[in-house]
Amino acid sequence: TLIPVILAGGKGERFWPLSRRRRPKQFLCLDGTDESLLQSTANRLLSFAETWDNLWVITASPIVEGVREQLTQLPDRNLLVEPQGKDTAPAVAWATLEVSKRYGKDAVIGFFPADHWIGDTDSFERTLKAATQVAISKDAIVTLGINPSYPSTGYGYIEQAESVGSFENLPVYRVSRFTEKPDQETAETFIKTGRFSWNSGMFIFRAGVMLDELQKYAPKMMELLLEKGETAYSDLAKNSIDYAVMEKTQLAYVLPANFGWDDLGDWNSLERLIESKGNNVELANHISLDTQGSIIYSSDDQQIIATIGLEDVVIVRDGNVTLVVNKNRTQDIKKLLKLLEKDD
Ligand code: GDD
Ligand code: MG
Repeated sequence: TLIPVILAGGKGERFWPLSRRRRPKQFLCLDGTDESLLQSTANRLLSFAETWDNLWVITASPIVEGVREQLTQLPDRNLLVEPQGKDTAPAVAWATLEVSKRYGKDAVIGFFPADHWIGDTDSFERTLKAATQVAISKDAIVTLGINPSYPSTGYGYIEQAESVGSFENLPVYRVSRFTEKPDQETAETFIKTGRFSWNSGMFIFRAGVMLDELQKYAPKMMELLLEKGETAYSDLAKNSIDYAVMEKTQLAYVLPANFGWDDLGDWNSLERLIESKGNNVELANHISLDTQGSIIYSSDDQQIIATIGLEDVVIVRDGNVTLVVNKNRTQDIKKLLKLLEKDD
């Protein structure tokens, strides 16, 4: 079996102002269902964990109450609360340590982002089964590779090497190189070779394999965590597992994922999800003259948003905030937030 751990401590800043400090993206219902992204993620993984007893969540203290409200069946002992968010390297390290204390070092663990859209659940489950088999039979850190559709600079890139066989009828490859968030030029050259996929952000491995790699590549962090547990957090540097381990390890494998995936990274992703194809995405009481290709969102449908002669903009109203941004600048919302002292 696979012990799933949901990474639920991120801020989802690029979905501001809908995403706020205490109500980050994973708490929102963005995929057209009445479940939040976190709830959908948990439900999808439950069929693997079999019971809530084997499903874990790691999150940061400012939002832990929200997690409890959203996942009422999650046992308290499966909820790891980080004193501060230090990105995913400490989260993976600490959660792997805690999970291995309960299930042993041979337990297969899967880490899953809390805020992704997955299209085909059956195919997702088959892929996880295959990944679990790879993790059992090899000293492997298994990644799920997404067929890249454009030279994004917001993802990790995985270069596949030779095939190592197939599991559940899915081909599995060794990874020759992992590059986190390359610049535009590098991303373009990667895509041209046809050998690269995007990293989906999900990782599957035996606990002991990851602990050994962390020991090798992030010894300081491990020493602190082993010695002090979560009280070590104030001394830990921010780092993501992609930089800390994935770019360095020789044990990475990749399984091409065909289940339909979107990381709902920013406002533009709503367009992909709703498949508006050149029309406006209207999630508001919107009246317009000659407005095209725009995304209009309001959390209050009593409010009217009126536009004239606009093209390719994003307009979001939530509470006391109105955001108007050019569609190709939505990545910069992170920078904008640095200018705001507080956003809630
Ligand atoms: N517990 C905890 N603590 N979770 C965290 C923290 C933290 O400090 N920081 C982020 N997370 C959670 C987020 O909520 C999200 O579910 C997941 O970890 C990944 O973090 P992101 O901040 O969203 O990472 P990213 O999107 O920039 O990049 C990662 O995902 C891409 C795919 O979406 C990388 O793995 C890339 O390589 C990958 O392509
Ligand atoms: Mg992300």
